Amino acid sequence: MSDQTFKKNILCVGAGYVGGPTMTVIANKCPEYKVTVVDISQPRIDAWNSDELPIYEPGLDERVFNVRGKNLFFSTDINKGIKEADIIFVSVNTPTKTFGEGAGKASDLQYLEKIARQIKEVAESDKIVVEKSTIPVRAAEALERILHSDDSKTHFEILSNPEFLAEGTAIDDMEAPDRVLIGSKDTPSGLKARDQLVEVYTHWVPRERVITTNLWSSELSKLVANAFLAQRISSINSIAAICEMTQADVQEVSRAIGKDTRIGAKFLNAGVGFGGSCFRKDILNMVYLCEFYGLHDVAQFWAQVVKMNEYSMDRFVKRILRTLFNTLVGKKIAVYGFAFKPDTGDTRDAPAITICKSLLREKAHVCITDPHALKNAALDLEGVEGAVEYELDPYKAAEGAHAIALVTEWKQFKDLDYKRIFDSMSKPASIFDGRNLLDHKALYDIGFNVYPLGKPDLDHFQNED
Ligand code: UDX
Ligand code: ADP
Repeated sequence: MSDQTFKKNILCVGAGYVGGPTMTVIANKCPEYKVTVVDISQPRIDAWNSDELPIYEPGLDERVFNVRGKNLFFSTDINKGIKEADIIFVSVNTPTKTFGEGAGKASDLQYLEKIARQIKEVAESDKIVVEKSTIPVRAAEALERILHSDDSKTHFEILSNPEFLAEGTAIDDMEAPDRVLIGSKDTPSGLKARDQLVEVYTHWVPRERVITTNLWSSELSKLVANAFLAQRISSINSIAAICEMTQADVQEVSRAIGKDTRIGAKFLNAGVGFGGSCFRKDILNMVYLCEFYGLHDVAQFWAQVVKMNEYSMDRFVKRILRTLFNTLVGKKIAVYGFAFKPDTGDTRDAPAITICKSLLREKAHVCITDPHALKNAALDLEGVEGAVEYELDPYKAAEGAHAIALVTEWKQFKDLDYKRIFDSMSKPASIFDGRNLLDHKALYDIGFNVYPLGKPDLDHFQNED
């Protein structure tokens, strides 16, 4: 049933943060393939077909505009997409369950199951079905069971192709990946399907960077990669707490240990905690998996990474509270940055959510500024009691504030005129740099009390006698 103008038809179900950018790169790199992205959400698809794409990602716009309507299509006609497709990427959301068995830890697979049933019902020819969502180990098996649940003649071959792209650098990560991982069954049809997917990627990725494994290794590797990355952040954040007590400097410690090639220099920036849609979800998933298999000590080991992350956010707020004379009632705090990291408008699991809620519980007046995430911030804090404002202009956000709490390290915040900001704030004016982005000595010289993360305080109370 495939569209004969093209060599192959690729379908992606789910036009989100993963599906959209991934398919855009495939369409750009493989002009002879037709790539269709479908979603149940009409507004989302309309946005993908408009001049204002639904997600912000550097380099995405020009790549979409380059191929949209040529070999890249966005549609809500899921059934037509399924019928046409040779390869179907499933990239629907798999949030953490909020109810029932495994609530708070296990993945909610209802969206995945729904689309699997739809594929089975609608498909008229053999398909390769690629798991692209993060789903627990052995989910491929569940997918396979649904797809082959009757004796229909249609054959579905399941592959696992985990997503390693990070938001903000999604296009670069996709165009020059450290590796592409493809898991398949070790059967002739499994290997044949695997080779077809390898062929897609080797349009631009060197063959030696495409790693092939069995299905379960591939699924588990995704969870393990994120767990290791998150663990590094919790590790360095735990050291930041020690640094603040001992007058050591966490950035100096990071540099010193990162020079050891066995440790490596990346992902050692201490901060207010990790966020994003993957880290917490994947670790909790792993914890659930361990508990399911009776590996309780292993489960506890990984659960501690999430606990340490919560501790980091809490520590940041407590430091603000302690410094501002143990009361925030009616004090204006300018929160610089809400996105879970710079260069994205995404706020899923952003530390700013927890931090702002805690500040509001202390009855602070919170004014949030962020270049791309204010809309999401307002949704995240909807219904939360307290005085909260959203302000695009960081100068206005700081006017009359007692303190600035820098939560996301947007480059824009580095280059502001902090003398002007200082002059407009209530005194004493404090800056809590939760990401160590700013020039702390320069801020101190302007007159700020400066509280960097994992470093000694620079305040005028102690230093001027
Ligand atoms: C992550 C993985 O990096 C990616 O491979 C996977 O596919 C999805 O999850 P992402 O969540 O987009 O990507 O962002 P990432 O850059 O990994 O940052 C996650 C969080 O960790 C952010 O909140 C960031 O601020 C924080 N972080 C990162 C630190 O606090 N310190 C660091 O040194 C690095
Ligand atoms: P991710 O970060 O994994 O890409 P998103 O939530 O950004 O997650 O995107 C997942 C997308 O999948 C959403 O746009 C959602 O509407 C879509 N989706 C969920 N279930 C289905 C389905 N059965 N058919 C089509 N699209 C779906």
